[in-house]
Amino acid sequence: MLAAALREQGLPPGATLLDLCTGTGALAVWATLRLGAEATAVDVSRRAVLVARTNARLNGVRVHAVRGDLFGAVAGRRYDAIVANPPYVPAAEDTDELPTRGLRRASDAGRDGRVVLDRICAQAPHHLQAGGRMLLVHSSVNGAQATVERLAAAGLEADVVAHHPGPLGPLMASRAAALEARGLLRPGQRDEEVVVVRARRSP
Ligand SMILES: C[S@@+](CC[C@H](N)C(=O)[O-])C[C@H]1O[C@@H](n2cnc3c(N)ncnc32)[C@H](O)[C@@H]1O
Repeated sequence: MLAAALREQGLPPGATLLDLCTGTGALAVWATLRLGAEATAVDVSRRAVLVARTNARLNGVRVHAVRGDLFGAVAGRRYDAIVANPPYVPAAEDTDELPTRGLRRASDAGRDGRVVLDRICAQAPHHLQAGGRMLLVHSSVNGAQATVERLAAAGLEADVVAHHPGPLGPLMASRAAALEARGLLRPGQRDEEVVVVRARRSP
């Protein structure tokens, strides 16, 4: 979904792109190969950064992969485009503390799943070029409107550019009772929409 939405933005070859929470580096590699982007990939996981570098090498492209905590890894730098598939699954426990290691660091993001999303929304304007855009993927369980409002509060123009309905993923489904108790799911609700929210900085 992120790749399709990114293609629709019509970035010119050579545009600078930041893939935040890159994981495998798939989006950074794809954008370099297919759009001719000049990609930087950031992940807090040392192993993810190594995997992203390896995937770039295996695909014969250059991706600048760096380890760090969100935008902290690229302080002072601005990009034509930012893409992010951050952790957004509401935690099993009633806590906003984020996992610092292990598989859950890739998925869990506090009581409502918004801890990482909200940080990205607040910091994105400082890392977009004039006219630049960000594409952020998450679940309707986190509230697409909340993301649009936070981005607008940060001074960006925001809208939902893609949504894909389907059953809850296995992790979210395994936590359905807790999510119902927190009011994130209606009683008996077992579906969600995966959404892509776009934010634009004025030219
Ligand atoms: C849902 S996965 C992203 C998957 C990725 N888009 C892919 O295609 O492989 C989320 C990623 O965010 C990373 N992450 C979690 N917290 C982070 C943070 N504070 N700063 C940077 N990366 C973070 C995790 O290590 C994980 O690789």
